[in-house]
Amino acid sequence: MKHLTLLFAATAAALVAPDQVTILDKQPAASNDVVQTWWDSSLSHSTKLFTSLERRITDSIRSFDASSYGFDNDDHHPHPPRRGHGGHRRGDKTKTIYELIKSNKYTTKFASLLDNDDFSDIKSLLDSNSHNKTLFVPTDKAFERIPHHGDKPPPKEFVLALLKYHISPGLHTAHDLITSHTLPSNLSLDTLGSRPQRLRISTGLLFTIRVNIISKIVYSNILAKNGVIHAIDHILVPPPSQEKIISLLPNTFSTFSLGLEKTELSIPDHKGGTLFAPTNSAFRRLGPRANAFLFSSHGLKYLKALLKYHFVVDQTLYSDAFYGESKDEKAAARERVQEGGKYWHVDLETLLEDKAIAVDVKKWKGWVSIVLNGFTRVVFQDGVASDGVVQVVGKVLIPPHEHRHGHTGEEEDDGKNIEVEELKARLERYVEREEEGGQAGDL
Ligand SMILES: *[C@@H]1O[C@H](CO)[C@@H](O)[C@H](O)[C@H]1NC(C)=O
Ligand SMILES: *[C@@H]1O[C@H](CO)[C@@H](O)[C@H](O)[C@H]1NC(C)=O
Repeated sequence: MKHLTLLFAATAAALVAPDQVTILDKQPAASNDVVQTWWDSSLSHSTKLFTSLERRITDSIRSFDASSYGFDNDDHHPHPPRRGHGGHRRGDKTKTIYELIKSNKYTTKFASLLDNDDFSDIKSLLDSNSHNKTLFVPTDKAFERIPHHGDKPPPKEFVLALLKYHISPGLHTAHDLITSHTLPSNLSLDTLGSRPQRLRISTGLLFTIRVNIISKIVYSNILAKNGVIHAIDHILVPPPSQEKIISLLPNTFSTFSLGLEKTELSIPDHKGGTLFAPTNSAFRRLGPRANAFLFSSHGLKYLKALLKYHFVVDQTLYSDAFYGESKDEKAAARERVQEGGKYWHVDLETLLEDKAIAVDVKKWKGWVSIVLNGFTRVVFQDGVASDGVVQVVGKVLIPPHEHRHGHTGEEEDDGKNIEVEELKARLERYVEREEEGGQAGDL
């Protein structure tokens, strides 16, 4: 099996055991893409955590039908909680975040990383009073969870990125986290147009809060002079690219992956993007005839058009944030939804010519639903990626009929057991256009 690496969190070669850090100086200078390079080169020596990650995602998708809002499978409390996660008495408001973790016997490993000269900027950040910040600090136990492996330690640039990914600007108490979906981190990478990489926050039973699916907050609301600390049980590794995520989750995305491979669809260079990734069962829903056609040699060009309709580049839509062009209306919409607004709409142009997907983001109390083209729901939200976000859909998105745009009923557009003729009719114009484009280029 290829690339059986762990995703998002808790990964093998996070191997930032403090005693290894000195070795890092010998590493070659890292490119901008230090995170992706790490993902590309690291092979996991343990598939356990990776398997558990995929199980969490599939369980969440499976249980999604039971509810109309996109929350994780263990997120079934009937009301967004108002309390929980202790009071505000933990910590010591005369000390900085750095001082607190330095003196805490459960966070010695993270603290000693900060004491390494290479990471003195991070230490200063956590020691400075100029801004409040939130630190997700991995406990010493979290470092023990890094499986043993024989790979080289990561370059120090990677460790630096990793440390920044544990910090979020602003003061976010557990109470704030419970109603958050994503938070910006202090890490920014070129791949996302230098916007902050985000952390995915989810709340489960008994107010269990997880960051990036795996890392559980085991101790929250440790207040400091310059912010707040939450202790987590797994290290947060900056995520890989969208493409890598798809390839790492074969039980969920192998059909989509196969399609990308067979059609040789190449995604243009991008700074962020939104991938509406259909699950394997989304493809099954199309029915055996449609699948046989799409994956046959004469169907591939239709498949290619279809897949293109799932990629948005340069605009990154999280359930509670939008990194895109600074068109006023979009900015305004984003602010409305971030500041407690209930609804916003955006049309996102896909790689399929000028064809856009109409996105409706609706907020209800602490929950958010994302609905595409009027009826297709995102069944797993905010799969953060280094170059954007993966929003998982349980139905394959098919471009609506031109002439019926805006009037199509759900059943018509739904795509379940779709006839090959219908599929062809809906995609024909894009397939032809592509060929025209090719000819024009030849002249
Ligand atoms: C940090 O947050 C506390 C509590 O909300 C506030 O009193 C303080 O002024 C903030 N400090 C800065 C530098 O913003
Ligand atoms: C990280 O923190 C530093 C210091 O506060 C700040 O200058 C920088 O803009 C932050 N970066 C991001 C991406 O938040």
